[in-house]
Amino acid sequence: MSDSPAPAPASSPPATAPDTTQQPGSASPTTPAGPPAQILPASHWAQVQHTEEEEDDDVDSAYGEDAASSTASLSASILEYRTVHGRTFHSERGNAQSWNPNDAQHDESMDILHHVSTLMQDGKIHMAEIDDKKVQKVLDVGCGTGIWAIDFADLYPNIEVIGVDISPQQPQWIPPNLKFEIDDVTQEWTYEPESFDYIHMRWLVGSIPDWEFLFKEVYKALKPGAIFETKESSALITSDDGTVTPESALGQWGRVFGEAGSKFGRTFRVVEEDIQRKALEAAGFVDLKTYDLRTPIGSWPANAKEKEIGQYAQLALEQDIEGFVVYMWTTVMGWSPDEIHVYAAHLRRELRSRKSHAYYPQRVIVARKPDVGEVVP
Ligand SMILES: C[S@@+](CC[C@H](N)C(=O)[O-])C[C@H]1O[C@@H](n2cnc3c(N)ncnc32)[C@H](O)[C@@H]1O
Repeated sequence: MSDSPAPAPASSPPATAPDTTQQPGSASPTTPAGPPAQILPASHWAQVQHTEEEEDDDVDSAYGEDAASSTASLSASILEYRTVHGRTFHSERGNAQSWNPNDAQHDESMDILHHVSTLMQDGKIHMAEIDDKKVQKVLDVGCGTGIWAIDFADLYPNIEVIGVDISPQQPQWIPPNLKFEIDDVTQEWTYEPESFDYIHMRWLVGSIPDWEFLFKEVYKALKPGAIFETKESSALITSDDGTVTPESALGQWGRVFGEAGSKFGRTFRVVEEDIQRKALEAAGFVDLKTYDLRTPIGSWPANAKEKEIGQYAQLALEQDIEGFVVYMWTTVMGWSPDEIHVYAAHLRRELRSRKSHAYYPQRVIVARKPDVGEVVP
């Protein structure tokens, strides 16, 4: 999921974007800037005391009321998961390094986030226009639990859908027009060039060493005139009114992820650094339509729809705080499991206090591969 830290250079939607739509809770399309990486040491969280006031979940009157391979076959080695502090991760394959656990606890979080995404897009699971009389073949890149691909295949039973992921964490009972494949999408693709009508990619932030290379592979696999949709989250959790401070557990989340991504060579600052647009343009895509979204976390929004979104976003995070951070924060940043548990307790407390009017930015860009012979400006 969602999401990045440190000096979040303000990034506006591209001036050339023909359509910039903001969604729930989004007053401005910019990603708020934070001060340069102020990362508190892991030991900090064991020293922080809580006051009664912090525990208080009184409602702020200005806000809401109620609390609350492309051709690979599945071989045995693919099931040899790596284990980090009790959580499982995909097996060694190619250049893939996913920080997302592939166990049931984390799958649950990802499925809740799919619901959050759908609510934020007014019930739609894609922002691109799909003409199911023309679209024949669709690819979902880094499909995770497969929830998006399953919903898409159900929605369009006449379209052939493929979901590809490094980890075999997808169910077996799936729509007949869908199949899952296991592969490392950061390697050169083996899909037939110009074979897909629409490619969808969501939440690969922190897993991709070279976005330009990846988007060029997408471009090659698309038919001329076909559509690509990329949705990514910032790791930066912030607020417009100062209720999320850089030193808070919420404020530190994105900062630590940002630093970890830099060290890891797989950035978490995709939204802040406008990497999707840059990589799309470098690959040759045209007609970029940008949608900047803000996902509230918690039940603080006054608006009923945003409140519902915020409650689900909080649920997704609370479902597996440790799972989201354990890989990057232990193996890359050197935190101990105990330090993570203490941090997670602080984060949980902040989430429940309802004093933090927290949200994180997301960006969807829908782009088109030019038609054969099309003159591209
Ligand atoms: C945050 S999850 C998002 C899952 C899904 N796209 C969704 O929206 O629910 C990221 C997914 O990308 C997959 N992934 C990461 N690196 C990958 C790679 N190199 N090749 C294929 N899949 C990868 C992970 O296994 C994980 O399932």
